[in-house]
Amino acid sequence: MAENTITTRSLGIASEGVKDQYADGKAAKVWQIFIGDKKSRTQNYKNFLVGLLKKHGCKRILDVACGTGIDSIMLLEEGFEVVSIDASDKMLKYALKERWNRRREESFDKWIIEEANWITLYDDIEDLVGNGFDAVICLGNSFAHLLDNFGDQREQMQALRNFEKCVKPGGLLLIDHRNYDDIMDTGKTATKCIYYNSQHTTDIKTSVLYVAGRPALVTLDYLIDISSADDDKRDTIIEDSISEFRLSYYPHRLRVFKEMLRKAFGENATSKIYGDFKELDDIEVPNFYIHVVEKSSTIF
Ligand SMILES: C[S@@+](CC[C@H](N)C(=O)[O-])C[C@H]1O[C@@H](n2cnc3c(N)ncnc32)[C@H](O)[C@@H]1O
Repeated sequence: MAENTITTRSLGIASEGVKDQYADGKAAKVWQIFIGDKKSRTQNYKNFLVGLLKKHGCKRILDVACGTGIDSIMLLEEGFEVVSIDASDKMLKYALKERWNRRREESFDKWIIEEANWITLYDDIEDLVGNGFDAVICLGNSFAHLLDNFGDQREQMQALRNFEKCVKPGGLLLIDHRNYDDIMDTGKTATKCIYYNSQHTTDIKTSVLYVAGRPALVTLDYLIDISSADDDKRDTIIEDSISEFRLSYYPHRLRVFKEMLRKAFGENATSKIYGDFKELDDIEVPNFYIHVVEKSSTIF
């Protein structure tokens, strides 16, 4: 059963110094199952993402929330050069394992995986940034993990500024968040969506914490029934048939998030918002908003 008290996160601190919600290993262990079938997950947006990156001539991609590596692996398979970072060693463990298993494939042999966090990202990987990546991606509702510790979203702005510094002039940032406007209105989170589509996810309990009358934190309690999951997707140390884990998010409002991106990238950047990787007009209530920002090619 999900607890009725809100403990915002597990107690782990990644070696990077940021709070690591995945440090207890609970979510990491079942992440491959939570994601659902890998091919059908990425199929939901592969054409969109790969098409967009190719249209912009992108070759070198930085995945700033690679987790177990799902999007990075898809991009490597599609011929991109990928640098992947994440703050959680528990999640990176699975990406590193895949890299090792496929090291004889040239693209996997060249795949760079680093532990780093968004708050100090540019300094952490400056030598890898060079003149900037053609595109930076931050997908799967990852950015919302960065909570608002000071009540003024300063750390989130700092992270977005770091992302901007990693993008070359004229390059792209693709970043998403769940539709928190809808979650606030309905108090519900879809158990199935473009990214997380497992037949094993039986429930996501949504709790919203208000501070001074404003929603400050959304806590999701995930219930995954792993009894019938394929053995190769089950971590050997999972013994129970039901897995529960809790993750907390900052509820980004679409309007506010758009404004934060504008501040980070400046007036001369262009941006477009998609709903579940479709044109906004084509979808009534998207589960996810995906922001595509093109950095100005002029350096001021
Ligand atoms: C929801 S998971 C998504 C992973 C992957 N993109 C996917 O879709 O499966 C979010 C990831 O963001 C990482 N993350 C959260 N806060 C971070 C931070 N401040 N710096 C770097 N990574 C962070 C977590 O460790 C986690 O692996």
